[in-house]
Amino acid sequence: MNGANKKIRLGVNIDHVATLRNARGTFYPDPLKIALMLEHLGVDGITVHLREDRRHIIDQDVTKLVDEVSLPINLEMAATKEMQLIALNLIPHAVCLVPERREERTTEGGLDVVREERELKAFITPLLEKKIRVSIFVSAQLEQIEAAARIGAPVVELNTGIFCNYYCENKMEEYTNEISKLRKAVICANQLGLEVHGGHGLSYETVKFVAAIPGIRELNIGHFLISEAIFEGISSAVKKMRKEIDLAQNCM
Ligand code: PXP
Repeated sequence: MNGANKKIRLGVNIDHVATLRNARGTFYPDPLKIALMLEHLGVDGITVHLREDRRHIIDQDVTKLVDEVSLPINLEMAATKEMQLIALNLIPHAVCLVPERREERTTEGGLDVVREERELKAFITPLLEKKIRVSIFVSAQLEQIEAAARIGAPVVELNTGIFCNYYCENKMEEYTNEISKLRKAVICANQLGLEVHGGHGLSYETVKFVAAIPGIRELNIGHFLISEAIFEGISSAVKKMRKEIDLAQNCM
């Protein structure tokens, strides 16, 4: 088994349950309902991204999840004053800082920690003081990981989206290269004492490559799982994903 001989935790991002709800302005499907189901399915955490434009998850969703779900809630958010106040008010188990652009369809890349080092350090200090686990979403670039360590973040979440895109486009040289970057990034982060997570774009196929990297502790997966749930139900989708992770990590 790889890493610290521990099973990789699976966090499920439920944003797109809210996307479906908001498409009609109805009260269903309710993100809380799927979170409670996921609790029974044995996943390790629930992730939601409260975006500035509230295009999927809304404030009340986060409040209900924090209050009513016993799993750790990982709140993805931009490093803005508004989001900081929400996090300090709700005290989720974890916060993952992501870059956010209104016009993007989904998070497009990692944070530029090098450029915003001073601001980000000041931003995360009150969150850490409240014992919120802070992770920083970064690309597999060593300088970004080193900067994350310097600002005192205990966790980095590596962007697996670049690898997944290359894989889906069948660009073997590029995806092999990206996996090798991710491997080096994990080694670097672990050596700096950071816990490493991964996420973005993962599917049954692509997760095998990422879960096989020694040293990753958590994967956060959303769009693919919620999509598969349409066909086979969330229970089956989560079980299959769990199996792929365990097989790749060689801990079945
Ligand atoms: N991790 C981060 C930091 C993200 O921004 C997202 C998307 O919200 C995910 C993981 C999950 O990505 P996906 O929905 O593509 O599985």
